[in-house]
Amino acid sequence: MSPQTERNLEKAMAVEAFASAKYTRFAACARMNDNPDLAKLFQIAADTAHFRKEFNLAHVPCDDAGNLQSAINDKDSMITMYSKFAMEAEAAGDDSAAAVFENIRQEEMSQVRELGEALGKIRSESGCEQTVGAVKSAV
Ligand SMILES: [Fe+2]
Repeated sequence: MSPQTERNLEKAMAVEAFASAKYTRFAACARMNDNPDLAKLFQIAADTAHFRKEFNLAHVPCDDAGNLQSAINDKDSMITMYSKFAMEAEAAGDDSAAAVFENIRQEEMSQVRELGEALGKIRSESGCEQTVGAVKSAV
């Protein structure tokens, strides 16, 4: 896949994922507003967002350890982003936004710890220990 197509695919996936999450919330609002037909329409739009087709096109392997590391990397970036956003919101006097960004940052940190523990467990259950054992026995 060409670098331009890869960049376009990455952008399309971000847009579709955002749209799906947004339409799911729109569907919830419609249900709260007692508009079940509209809720169904939004939920269908959310469920048929084209993320899955694009994700499949991206040929992401079903590698749990690799996916855990990818998620950890994503969340590390998010933690940095939310820290900056919280500080900027606080400096601007947007206290509610600052509190939400800080709360999300802390949740992301907690999730990074859990993902890291899961990654450590997978690595210890995989050939990594065997490799370590083989190295130890060779010494
Ligand atoms: Fe779409």
